[in-house]
Order: sequence, then C-alpha cells, then structure tokens
Amino acid sequence: MKDRGFDTLSIHAGHEGFEPDSMSTPIYQSVAFPYADAKEAAEIFRGEKPGYTYGRWDNPTVQVFEKRMAALEGAQSAIATGSGMSAIMMLAHQLCDEGDEFVSSNRVYGGTFGLFGEGFRKMGIKVNWVTEPESLDEWKAAITPKTKFLFVESPSNPGLFIGDIAALSALAKEHGLPLIADNTITTPALQQPISLGADTVVHSTTKFICGNASSLGGIICGTEEVIEGIRQGCMRYLGPAMAPFNAWLNLLGLETLSLRMAKHCSNALAIAEFLEKHPLVESVNYPGLSSNPYHAIGNKQMKGFSSLMSFIIKGTYDDATTIIDSLDLMIHATHLGTAKTIVTHPASTTHSAMGEEEMKKAGIPATLIRLSIGLEEEADLIADIEQALANVKSAVAV
Ligand SMILES: Cc1ncc(COP(=O)(O)O)c(C=O)c1O
Repeated sequence: MKDRGFDTLSIHAGHEGFEPDSMSTPIYQSVAFPYADAKEAAEIFRGEKPGYTYGRWDNPTVQVFEKRMAALEGAQSAIATGSGMSAIMMLAHQLCDEGDEFVSSNRVYGGTFGLFGEGFRKMGIKVNWVTEPESLDEWKAAITPKTKFLFVESPSNPGLFIGDIAALSALAKEHGLPLIADNTITTPALQQPISLGADTVVHSTTKFICGNASSLGGIICGTEEVIEGIRQGCMRYLGPAMAPFNAWLNLLGLETLSLRMAKHCSNALAIAEFLEKHPLVESVNYPGLSSNPYHAIGNKQMKGFSSLMSFIIKGTYDDATTIIDSLDLMIHATHLGTAKTIVTHPASTTHSAMGEEEMKKAGIPATLIRLSIGLEEEADLIADIEQALANVKSAVAV
C-alpha cells in the first residue's frame, strides 16, 4: 500500500486483517480484547505478539485511522486522540519535563494559546512566544538551552499567517530540536509538513478531516519512537483516547478529503476575491489572493490555500455583529472545516480568553470576521455575504 498515490491511500490505507472483511471498516465498540490464554496476554503486553489490550491505547478501528493518517502525512506512525487540543497536549507533554521551555509563534488557535501559556505554566513548562513569526531571527532569539521544540501552526487560525516550514526546520535542526507543525487548516491533501522538514505533525481532525461537525478528534503523526513513547507513556496515564466511532467517522471523511479540499479552495478564492473588492472591507486575510504577503511561501509549500479566511471591516464592532447576524445561509458557530460555511467572531468567542493586548499582538481586532467556506454553490455564498454587508449602516463604514 505504501507506494500508492494520496487518493488511493486516503481510501484504503490501514484497512487490513479483518475477518470477515467488510467494505466499511468495522467499529470495534469495545474497551478490552479477551486473550486466548495467560501466555498470550503476557506476550501481547511485552510487545512480542501483535494484539490489542485496552482501549485507552489500542483499538482496531482507531488503529486503521492511525495507519491511514500516518500514510497520508508520510510519517512512520500516528496516534489518535480525543480532540485536537489533547493531541497538542500529549505531544508537548512527551517532549518536555518540568523546567523545560519551547518556542511557538503567537499566531495560534486560542485554545492552543491558553494551553501553552496558562496550561503549561501550571506544569512548570514555559513557552517563549515569537510575536513577529515572519522573522527567523526572532525564532532564533527565542531559543534557549532549555528549549525542547519549535511549534508552528501554518496556516494559522484566524490570522492565516504562513510559516516557512523548510526554513523553520533548518533552524530547528541547527539547534538539534524537533519542529512540530499544526496542519489542521490545510490537511495532508494540501500540505505535508514532514516532506518539508517538520518532525511531527498534529491535527484537530474535528475540522476538515472529519468534515461535517460530527466528531471531536486529534492525531499526532511522527516517528515510531515519539508515537510509541506517547502510547506507552502519557496516553496511558492521562488517557484522552479517540472513540472508535469517531475514528470510523474520520475514516469516512478521509475517503473524500482531496475532492472536498479542492472545492473548499475554489469556493474560498471566489469569496475572498469578492470581499477584497467590497468598499466596506478594509483587508482580507486569505493567502490564496495574489496580493497576500504569504501567497508566495504558500505556493511553495502548499497545493492549495484551504478555505479559512478572515476579513477586517472598515466599521465598528457593532457593524461586525450586524454582518454576522444578517447572514442567512452561513452558519454562526464556533467551528471550521465543514461542508457548511461557518462565520465566527474570534475576538468575542474562540480567542476571547487571550485578552485585548495579546489579541492586538496577534492581529485579531473586534472588526475581524472569520469565515470557513464550505462546499455550497459559490454564487449562493456570495449572494449571502453581499446582502449581509448591505445591512451595515454605520457612518464609519459608508
Ligand atoms: C489550528 C487548530 N489546532 C487545534 C485546534 C483544537 O482542536 P479541537 O477543537 O479538536 O480540540 C483547533 C480548534 O479550532 C484549531 O483551529
């Protein structure tokens, strides 16, 4: 299966050894797996015989999803988790001890920002933020003798910052450090960070990989050593495993991943081009636009620009909420990466815990609106946003 193309792997990889075989991967809704005898139990636990032991670290349905994701990311191995946040948490926990530090761009999802700051502070692990992440010198300056890894979310949510993964990987290697990339927004259909030099990739599979807002999940793809370390270590004692049914939903999502991502990209470009020309719009953050500062680096390392975008309006906070409340087809929710188009106001929801000062540094004003463009008809989406923008009456805006 290894030498097959991406679309073949996304449909077949990892599904093997089921008796009787089935078109759809069976859902092993079981926590434990009986042994033939005591000898077999001991052999499986010692890793001398393949088999399953306990659902927190192994399950046949989840394992198919792990193998498929490893194949798609070009990684040796993968471990699925209960959410994207727990994937990031498990990996950082595996790589750091109390007193250690790591370096991250400040252009990250609000939950990640909270975990890295407040969450890890409680464990005695310190993040050194890079607040101008376009500058490699800033990354370099943030590395200390205690640094254990570099972390980049690219493209970032909601600012759509794109990090130069090859350059960051070269910097990490110079210092003998691993580079971790959060590949949630692009998925391996559009970007494969390991092929660009990253060591480990994390995802919130809740988003584009599942694709329909039906299940929370996360995955870590990396070397056998790191993944088995997590499986035998913190996954056992912290325990955020992926549910078998969620793994099954994610496997369904993967079967159509490339097709969906292509349509997400083309719809998003059309909306971004519409917004860029609208008199009420101050700026559009969508790296697929040729005017975007990250367009060139995105073209170098991505096959497409996905469908997350944000735009800043010329009006006020009230104008932003008027637009959101006027949308008819687009759904107002705290989510992204689904077939349905979603609008979010990050400053008052997903990123509100960052506080005003940190939001300012990360480029998230109250007039920023985030869109995750779905798979509906392009013309219907443009009509919806056009009528919503027409409702803004503020003197600042007109
Ligand atoms: C880029 C990114 N990484 C991680 C997460 C966290 O994922 P989850 O909601 O599955 O815990 C999110 C959630 O929005 C995200 O956008």
